Amino acid sequence: MALTNTNLENSLPLIAKGKVRDIYEVDDSTLLFVATDRISAYDVIMKNGIKDKGKILNQISKFWFSLLSDICPNHLITTDISSLPESVLKYKDQLEGRSMLVRKYKILPLEVIVRGYITGSAWKEYKTKGTVHGIAVRPNMKESEAFDAPIFTPSTKAELGDHDENIHPSEAAKIIGEKYAAEVEELALKLYNKAREYAITKGIIIADTKFEFGVDTEGTIVLVDEVLTPDSSRFWRADTYETGRGQDSYDKQFLRNWLTTNDLAYKDGVEMPDEVAQKTSEKYVEAYVQLTGQNWSS
Ligand SMILES: Nc1ncnc2c1ncn2[C@@H]1O[C@H](COP(=O)(O)OP(=O)(O)OP(=O)(O)O)[C@@H](O)[C@H]1O
Ligand SMILES: [Mg+2]
Repeated sequence: MALTNTNLENSLPLIAKGKVRDIYEVDDSTLLFVATDRISAYDVIMKNGIKDKGKILNQISKFWFSLLSDICPNHLITTDISSLPESVLKYKDQLEGRSMLVRKYKILPLEVIVRGYITGSAWKEYKTKGTVHGIAVRPNMKESEAFDAPIFTPSTKAELGDHDENIHPSEAAKIIGEKYAAEVEELALKLYNKAREYAITKGIIIADTKFEFGVDTEGTIVLVDEVLTPDSSRFWRADTYETGRGQDSYDKQFLRNWLTTNDLAYKDGVEMPDEVAQKTSEKYVEAYVQLTGQNWSS
């Protein structure tokens, strides 16, 4: 069964609900992220969920936190629920495998995006202006082609309901200050490059990704949020990759196709048929297995 909502009653204060995660406050310095099985497509959350999606995303973030821990510190404390406060342990069924206890930080108000390949809003801008987030890039690029080198392409972190806006790195420096902007750019490129080189050996192209960073009381930058999951990144299959066209989404293509074929894209409250949910679930399992080389057992 898919879990689309958590309910810990009053054992911990629920401080936010994202498209996918429910966030609880454990104490002043600790948060509990619970990844549900909610799925969004075309920016709308489906009514039903995808079995195991939250657990898989949680495990993927955990995998990357470990692989990338030599580059910078991160917020992960543990994914082991036995370290959670006693009061929430009775909700074990909702939490096991899908929760992450993290240190709480002041968040830098910037979507730290790195793009290795030209697609999406970057491709759109390039076609009309020849630039990407206002940055000049090589002429005559084809859709989905790799940039000469990955680029830092930040966007604003919009308030609820608003859309993030693509900005030039110089604008990012105005928002978070030059020192932090330079630091996050360097870290994000290092993180992306290491992940990309790893993923390609597993047959997955990480076309782009979004990081978030926090700052501790000493001013040290810490990697937070989810990391390099199919929800925060574009994963493409290397074996079907081809420039000159858009690429299928590794995980959501089946769902997107079903939505568009049935004229349901962008509509609220859509319920996916079992077959669509099942197929999509299989894609997440496949992504996990392919990327980590581990078997999946829910
Ligand atoms: N260690 C941390 N300390 C404090 N806040 C954090 C930490 N890690 C992540 N966050 C914040 O927690 C929030 C996570 O929200 P979440 O990603 O679930 O929803 P959202 O960003 O509002 O929407 P979406 O589902 O579209 O991503 C973000 O605002 C993120 O900046
Ligand atoms: Mg988010």
